[in-house]
Amino acid sequence: MWFFRSPEIVFGEDSLSYLSTLDLKRVVIVTDRYLKESKVISMVKNSLPASAQIVVVGDVPAEPSFDDMLPSLENVRNFSPDWFIAVGGGSSIDTAKILFALYERPDLSVYDITPIVKLNLRKKSRLIAIPTTSGTGSECSWAAVVSERGEKRKNELASKEILPDIAILDPKMVIDLPEEQTRNTATDAIVHAIESYVSSWRNPYSDALAEKAIELITGNLPSVLIKADNIKAREQVHIGASMAGLSFSNSQIGLAHALGHAFGALFKIPHGKSVGIFLPSVVRFNYPYCSDRYDRLNAIFPEDIREKKLDLTLENFLNKIGQPLKIHQMGIDEKNYSNQVETIVELASESTGITTNPRDANREDIRNIAMSVVNLSK
Ligand SMILES: [Fe+2]
Repeated sequence: MWFFRSPEIVFGEDSLSYLSTLDLKRVVIVTDRYLKESKVISMVKNSLPASAQIVVVGDVPAEPSFDDMLPSLENVRNFSPDWFIAVGGGSSIDTAKILFALYERPDLSVYDITPIVKLNLRKKSRLIAIPTTSGTGSECSWAAVVSERGEKRKNELASKEILPDIAILDPKMVIDLPEEQTRNTATDAIVHAIESYVSSWRNPYSDALAEKAIELITGNLPSVLIKADNIKAREQVHIGASMAGLSFSNSQIGLAHALGHAFGALFKIPHGKSVGIFLPSVVRFNYPYCSDRYDRLNAIFPEDIREKKLDLTLENFLNKIGQPLKIHQMGIDEKNYSNQVETIVELASESTGITTNPRDANREDIRNIAMSVVNLSK
């Protein structure tokens, strides 16, 4: 027996106006300090029913720890909302999931948010996610990442009950996303689709979503990077990224995420960049175990960048969109990186991403992939 879980998804231009049709009385908007005073928050507020009372929790830092969330949780409890609206990237949406769960259940701790604990949420409120990046998939997932203050480690919390009730994918919310973030978050989405497609938990639903996600993202991302306000292309990438999120949320990720989480945490590298850099080597490593699947995905990439095998196509594509394939292109000293490879190997070996990778990877395999991004052809 298997399940497919998804929020209600509202998408396309002006989908934000869907908010005006909902019975929203007391709304907490969860966002970050950069977006707090931005156009996107004004657009969300203006789309709410006129009678709605609103509190903005606007101090979510990048990669928040639970301690960072405590003052906001107090504000939320004092306000007693009937809806949470997360507006932002993965950090804001993940924070909203946790605030929502702990507002519903003040008796629980953040570490009770696991797949095996019945949380019994939605007695007081519900959750809407409005992503302002096209990539994390958090609006469609039942996971939330929380950093441990003062530590390099990240906790991956998960419960089907923190899956948002509604995801709104309005391309106007991503039209002003800077080029670098557009590239990084879309790369993350490509990695989600590819890892999901070969995960040992893959299923017909996640397969179909991953295939379409690759088509939409790779077919439209180059146009977005040339002309940022190409709303139609933005819309397709936004939908594709969400499909990739829905795909991996219902199947799981793999070795590129295991390595990328470790590398990203150690060197403070944006998530998309840190998982993207390992993807071609992970595909090469996995290839003998899922060649038919990789070949099928390879055929979906645009003809002008497609090579005979997926690893080479990915190198071509990532190169074309300006994504680094070696660590020196990120300005990281290779000696410093090599000195920390054992920590990356250790953290990656403990990551949940490794358990659903199509090929078992031992420490030596992981080390080889980690070292494959050290430049050998400078
Ligand atoms: Fe990711």
